[in-house]
Amino acid sequence: MRAVIQTSVGGPEVLFVAEQPDPVPRPGEVLVRVKAAGINPVDGAVRGGFYPLLGEPPFILGWDISGTVAALGPGVTTFKVGDEVFGMPHFPKQAGANAELAAAPTDEIAAKPAAIDHEHAAALPLAGLTAWQGIVRHGGLRAGQRVLVHAGAGGVGHLAVQIAKARGAYVIATASPGKLDFVRSLGADEVIDYTKGNFVEQVGNVDLVRTPSAATMSTSR
Ligand SMILES: NC(=O)c1ccc[n+]([C@@H]2O[C@H](COP(=O)([O-])OP(=O)(O)OC[C@H]3O[C@@H](n4cnc5c(N)ncnc54)[C@H](OP(=O)(O)O)[C@@H]3O)[C@@H](O)[C@H]2O)c1
Repeated sequence: MRAVIQTSVGGPEVLFVAEQPDPVPRPGEVLVRVKAAGINPVDGAVRGGFYPLLGEPPFILGWDISGTVAALGPGVTTFKVGDEVFGMPHFPKQAGANAELAAAPTDEIAAKPAAIDHEHAAALPLAGLTAWQGIVRHGGLRAGQRVLVHAGAGGVGHLAVQIAKARGAYVIATASPGKLDFVRSLGADEVIDYTKGNFVEQVGNVDLVRTPSAATMSTSR
């Protein structure tokens, strides 16, 4: 298969395409023919050597994938060849998403909804799970609560706004001036230009805050 690999850490210029052995799915895994791979901040940090999750290069970056099941590993019964799937396999170990083929445990992928294409599906897993874990699993957001989503136009933030709204919350989100309409279009009840004034005075009391710098959430009341 062809893959985007790197043999040293650095900027985007360290990435190049090379022939690599096809991955062999282990028991409980499927082989996915990758149609699209998502890129997140963690990819740049690992590529640059600031966050050495994968140790020393050479390695293949990428975790978010969307594609088609090309082969089944031993014991797999929940998917069949040809199924369209997406997910975030093997994190924080190497998944090798930036390649034509990637092996994925069946409990780390899901059926791709027919309503979204591979590009959108591949953009969802890491950012979507980060937003979901913050808002729902750790934050325990309930209908009627007020939530403040910082960086509401960002990769994680724009999903957090939609998840919070879908769970019946009153959503306040911060964004830069050019993105306020976008965040409003996602369902935010109030949008705040973070370049102007003191957002604390504009927000008032909230039940939950999604911080801009990480997946963590905190209650403020
Ligand atoms: N993406 C992931 O899967 C993921 C997973 C775990 C953790 N994280 C972490 O979560 C953070 C955000 O990641 P991301 O992928 O969402 O990044 P991103 O798409 O680059 O979004 C960052 C956002 O921050 C906003 N921003 C900048 N300064 C701000 C300020 N002073 N107040 C409010 N918002 C401000 C920007 O808003 P404007 O565009 O409106 O200027 C931008 O949309 C990063 O620290 C990342 O490492 C990301």
